[in-house]
Formats: sequence, C-alpha cells, structure tokens
Amino acid sequence: MDIYLLAIESSCDDTSAAVLRNDKVLANLVASQAVHEQHGGIVPELASRAHMQNIVPVVDEALKQAGVKKEQLHAIAFTRGPGLIGSLLVGGMFSKAMTLALKIPLIEVNHMQAHVLAHFIKEASPQPSPKERERHPVFPFLCLTVSGGHTQIVLVRDYLEMEVVGETNDDAAGEAFDKSAKLLGFPYPGGPLIDKHAQFGNPKAFKFGEPVVEGLDFSFSGLKTSILYFLQKKEKEDKDFIQKNRNDLCASIQEAIINILMKKLTKAAKQFAIKEIAIAGGVSANSGLRKALEEGGKKHGWNVYIPPFEYCTDNAAMIGIVGYYKYLKKDFALQGINPVARYAIGD
Ligand code: KG4
Ligand code: ZN
Repeated sequence: MDIYLLAIESSCDDTSAAVLRNDKVLANLVASQAVHEQHGGIVPELASRAHMQNIVPVVDEALKQAGVKKEQLHAIAFTRGPGLIGSLLVGGMFSKAMTLALKIPLIEVNHMQAHVLAHFIKEASPQPSPKERERHPVFPFLCLTVSGGHTQIVLVRDYLEMEVVGETNDDAAGEAFDKSAKLLGFPYPGGPLIDKHAQFGNPKAFKFGEPVVEGLDFSFSGLKTSILYFLQKKEKEDKDFIQKNRNDLCASIQEAIINILMKKLTKAAKQFAIKEIAIAGGVSANSGLRKALEEGGKKHGWNVYIPPFEYCTDNAAMIGIVGYYKYLKKDFALQGINPVARYAIGD
C-alpha cells in the first residue's frame, strides 16, 4: 500500500511543506523569510509571525502541486526540534491540529536526523540523471552535518539509528561563514556570498589561526576572533583593505573553515575505518566543501555523497523521509507532545 505523508519544517526562518508517496517526494515547497536581511540575523519573533502567515498557503500549495487531497494523507510529520521555540511551535501546533481533524497519526522528527536522511529522498520523476540522484550511502556511514546552528559528525548505522561522535564546542560552521561575512560587510546570511566571491580569490592569500581541539570536536569561535583582529589591523593601515581584497579574503576564510571540517572528518573516517562519507546541512551547498570532499574521496578511497542542492538547506522533504521510516515502524507521537529548542540525536 502506498503511504501519503505531509511533512512540515519550521525550525528556523524557512516555512516548508512537502508531500511524499512512500520515500518519493511529490512536492517540496519552501517559503523563505526576507524580513531578517535588514536586521543582519534572524529575529525570532519576526520568524514566528512569518511562519504563521506562511504555513496555510505553503501547505495548501504543496498538496495542490502533489495532486494529493488532505483526506488521502496517512500521517503528518513535523520538526520537533532543535530550533527556535517560537518557530517550532507554529509548525508543531499546526501539525497537531491537522492530525486531530483528519484523525491520522502524528510523527515527531529531529531536525538534525532529517538533515542526515536527506540522502535517502527519492524523486517521483528523477531529473536529470536518475542514477546519480538515487545514489545513497551504504550503512554504516559517516555524515558531516554542517548548518547555521550545528556542526556534527554522525555515525549512521541505520535509518533511525545514529550517534553523534563529534560536534562543535562553540559556533557552527554556518555561523563561522555568516559572522565572517558580516565582518566583510555582507548582508545576512553571508555564507553563500563568501562562496560566490571565493571562486575569484586566492585561498592561500591570508592565513588565520587554527584551533586546537581534542578528538572529533570542532571550534570556530577562535577563527572568528582571529579574522576580526586581522581585519582591524589591516584596516588601520589601509581603510579600503577589505574592498581591495574581498575575493582573496573570502577564498582564505572559506579555505580555513573547510580545513577545520575536513581534518576532523578524515580523522573520524580513519578512527571508525569507514569509507562511506556523506555531508549534509546548509553549508554542504558550499562549492569549496563539495570540492574538498571529492578530493578527499580520491585521496582516501572514500565513496562520497552530497545531497542535491535543494535538500541541503532546510526543507520539509527531509522531515518527510524520517516520517516515512518512522511510519513503517509505527513510531507515532501523542497529541501531548511539544516542540523543544534543544533536541539531541538519540534523545
Ligand atoms: O541547514 P540550514 O539551511 O539551516 C540551519 O538549520 O541552520 O543552513 C543555513 C546555513 C547558513 O549559515 C548559511 O550561510 C549556510 O548554511 N550556507 C552556506 C552556503 N549556503 C548556505 N555557507 C557557505 N556556502 C554556501 N554556499
Ligand atoms: Zn537545518
């Protein structure tokens, strides 16, 4: 029997709804919130309000695009956490109400687990290359999940069985990109802009301090401070320093962040003797990281996996794929469940 699922993601500043038939995506819509740009970062209260405005039209449009009626749905999956509590509450309460009205099961999903399982999303009509897009990692694999809020190395034993073996002690990789971008005068979120300018710059032009962190954990706050002091010093000598060296600065900052990530990923691959290596999360859209992973693959004999671009950044299709595997296990949530801002994989 085919299972029809509605999935809702509202953990941060994107309101997203997806409709799946089993593990295939029929529709995946994302309404982004431009309102935060002028504030240089996400304003939680504005995010909640925008989610409230967006959620009904986004769900409506996803069902329409999928050609699925709400009466056909078998369950609704929603992001329980981690994320901004006000944002999570909008998607959570909406999903609870809709399952109650339709008398169907509710499924709670961990956002970080969803980033990892984005690798298993299948297309209803694969374009352009079905083989490439249907390729997915083989268990057990390692996944470097890098987003605006998290940086983790996850040891994935099965769809719903995974363990965080390394994570950041302070800032996330996406934050390191965004905060560095802010120092260079870029609007929020600056990660994609650093990527864009880096393509025209020399990654060896400038060197920044490297963190010393035990085991498989990461640290990015030192890098941010090192960039800040470097820029302050250079701007004293020449007030147009940033403007004159923008591309080289972007390339060098990107290189520094990627080096930190790749060092620990390589260490983890050796430690666990695993050659199936994946990346996930918003920062896996970064062209430099994608290239570094491909090169690492060639050097160490890894099979590498990078999700299609639209499943790297926050989206509801990835919530839906976790929902599908939980549905198969009849792992349903009670109506009394509430979203949580902090929610570790395995909790
Ligand atoms: O996973 P995501 O969409 O949201 C969170 O769950 O945080 O990740 C967003 C993060 C932001 O920090 C953004 O700047 C970063 O991913 N990002 C990038 C690129 N695209 C998105 N960072 C570097 N290069 C990119 N191309
Ligand atoms: Zn995310």
